[in-house]
Amino acid sequence: MVLRDTWWVRKQVAQMHWLDRVDDQTILEVHRVVSAVVEIGGAVGWLQTPTRAGIGQWLGGWHAAATTGRAGLALCRVGDQIEALGGWRAEPEGALGHVVELTKIMVHPDARGQGLGRLVVDALIDGADNFGAELLTLGVRGNNYGARALYEACGFETWGVLPNAAAVGDDRFDVVRMCRQLRLPTNAVIHGSTAGGMGGSSLRSGQCVSLRPDRSGLS
Ligand SMILES: CC(C)(COP(=O)(O)OP(=O)(O)OC[C@H]1O[C@@H](n2cnc3c(N)ncnc32)[C@H](O)[C@@H]1OP(=O)(O)O)[C@@H](O)C(=O)NCCC(=O)NCCS
Repeated sequence: MVLRDTWWVRKQVAQMHWLDRVDDQTILEVHRVVSAVVEIGGAVGWLQTPTRAGIGQWLGGWHAAATTGRAGLALCRVGDQIEALGGWRAEPEGALGHVVELTKIMVHPDARGQGLGRLVVDALIDGADNFGAELLTLGVRGNNYGARALYEACGFETWGVLPNAAAVGDDRFDVVRMCRQLRLPTNAVIHGSTAGGMGGSSLRSGQCVSLRPDRSGLS
C-alpha cells in the first residue's frame, strides 16, 4: 500500500516531454541515466558506458531525426532531473513507412518500480499514434523478463524470436520481437500471407514453404 501510494505520487509529479534541443544540461542528465543503466548491465544497446560526448552526439542524432517528424525521444523528468527515456522511430518512407520501432526504453535503477517505464511507453505510443503509425514493433533481450512484462502490460505481443541475435562477448541471447497493431485504415484490404497479389510469387511445382512462424498467436 505504501509502495502504491509512492508510485501514485511519483506518477503525479513525473513530467514527460520530447527532446527539442540538445544543451549541456540535457546531455548531463541523459548521460546520468544511460550510464547508470549500462553500468549494471542493462540491455539498451551500449556494451560500454558511453562518454558524455558520445551521448551528446547520440542526442544530436535523435534531434535531427525528430525534426523530420518521423521520430521522437521522450524524456521523463521527476523533480529536477530526468529519470527515464525512450524513443520511437518510423521506418523510411515507403511500404513500411507506417511501421514504428520503440527503442532505448530505460529507467534509472533508483527510480524503477514506480510506473515511469509505463509512462515512457505510453508517451511513445501516443507519439507514434500522432505520427499516424499503424504498427508498433520492438525488440527485447529474451532474458529481460521485466521489460517483456512491461511491454505485455502495454498491449504488445510476441511475434517471433531471433535466436542468438544479441552478442555480448562470448555470450549469445535471443532477441524477442514484439508488436502492437495501433490502427488500420478503414479501407485497408488485409491479405496477410495469402498467395497472390502484388509482390507475390508462386512455387515451382512440388515445392512448399513452411507457414511457421505464422500469426496464429496474434489477435
Ligand atoms: C524495463 C524497465 C524500463 C521497467 O521500468 P519500471 O519503471 O521499473 O517499470 P514500471 O514501474 O513502469 O512497470 C510497469 C509495469 O511493467 C511490468 N513490469 C515492469 N518491470 C517488471 C518486473 N521486473 N517484473 C514484473 N513486471 C514488471 C508490470 O506489469 C508493471 O506494472 P505493475 O507495477 O502495476 O505491476 C526498467 O526495469 C529498465 O530500465 N530496465 C533496464 C533497461 C531495459 O532493459 N530496457 C528495456 C530494453 S528493451
